[in-house]
Amino acid sequence: MRVLLVGGGGREHTLAWKLSRSRQLKQLYIAPGNPGTVQLGANVKIKDNDIVGLVRFAQEKKIDLVAVGPEDPLAAGLVDALSDVGIRAFGPTAAATAIEADKAFAKKIMHSSSIPTAEGRTFDNFRDARAYIASRDSAVVVKATGLAKGKGVFVCDEPSDGILAAEKIMVDRVFGDAGNHVLVEEKLIGQEASILAFVDGHNIYVMESAQDHKPIGDGDTGPNTGGMGAYSPAPIVTEKLISQIEREILVPLVDGMNRNDTPYKGVLYAGLMLTAGGPKVLEFNARFGDPETQPILMRMKGDLLEIMTAVCDGTLDKIDLSWDPRPAVCVVMASGGYPGDYEKGKVITGIEDAEKNPDVKVFQAGTKTQDDKLITNGGRVLGVTAMGANISEAQSRAYEAVKMINFEGAYYRKDIAEKAMK
Ligand code: AMP
Ligand code: GLY
Repeated sequence: MRVLLVGGGGREHTLAWKLSRSRQLKQLYIAPGNPGTVQLGANVKIKDNDIVGLVRFAQEKKIDLVAVGPEDPLAAGLVDALSDVGIRAFGPTAAATAIEADKAFAKKIMHSSSIPTAEGRTFDNFRDARAYIASRDSAVVVKATGLAKGKGVFVCDEPSDGILAAEKIMVDRVFGDAGNHVLVEEKLIGQEASILAFVDGHNIYVMESAQDHKPIGDGDTGPNTGGMGAYSPAPIVTEKLISQIEREILVPLVDGMNRNDTPYKGVLYAGLMLTAGGPKVLEFNARFGDPETQPILMRMKGDLLEIMTAVCDGTLDKIDLSWDPRPAVCVVMASGGYPGDYEKGKVITGIEDAEKNPDVKVFQAGTKTQDDKLITNGGRVLGVTAMGANISEAQSRAYEAVKMINFEGAYYRKDIAEKAMK
């Protein structure tokens, strides 16, 4: 099969790596890809939000399947545009991507499908949001309802901070139109877990669990990021809990999307808080998580291209997958200053040494080549991922690899996967 993978981050390097191992793969293109994907296929200079350019390329190259990594092209209707010209596309339509791109829509579907989630209210103006937050005497979570690269959520222990957050979103408009509405939620308490599932419109295949580390600082301190590291499996997510999540969350969501005439196909990512009262949804994403994909796909045995095809064709019930029982840990190395301002262009060394260990893979995200050198080109630069006989071995292997890699100002959390060992 001829495949076009859309995106250029750490998730896409991981997807390209896994797709490149498929027996069905004849040719892999990645648009735009990154220096990590160069070794796995042909990078194509088309931006991931250039819908017209991507469709034209897919037609020209007679692509059999387009796999869409990031949320922006999904929300912009790439899958719809490809389907219109008869090209198989892995991912939800624009209307179904609203489950991620519009948190107010997601809340509505959750309510009408009785899916457990934080209580919340949506506002279209700052005055009403402020009055509501001020009337609450407990912690609040304030969210821009649109797409904000994982940074549009503010967990505020004091209502006064919640008002500042709403002001930032609605008055200062730091996320642009993504902040036209805010969602104000109760703060849920518990451990978080990410559950990703393949969905073909009706059938659901739940992947192995993972846990992300969203805040920038050790001990979950500081502002939220796109994700600073992840591990799989999350020991807190038992078989019994998985069944409960499937029964109470995933199945009702897929049914609710069908009732709403926005059938869901692709990867459904449920960000959950495991509260004393059971699992509750923090958010849905319409795609693979980044960096959860790195440890999850390291552990997946089976042909990703076959699965993606089954998702597109509605034959997921025919697919059987198995998983490497060994845990995997991914530590994200970021540019100093991220998620705020940071410098680019720092030379990266040591990846080859780190990858000498066959249980280590370094997935590239914000990188670029210049004069034959690999340099930093983004906030999250690398996802250093390792497998081990147990979580502690995977963790120490990942950190050993991290120590072999250098670039000026490199920052990483020192406590990734610590929670899994408690
Ligand atoms: P989201 O992008 O909606 O998943 O939010 C990003 C992060 O903010 C989550 O991973 C949680 O750590 C935190 N968060 C979001 N909503 C809540 C909530 N209702 N209660 C507590 N923490 C939350
Ligand atoms: N790691 C969180 C996300 O992909 O949204």
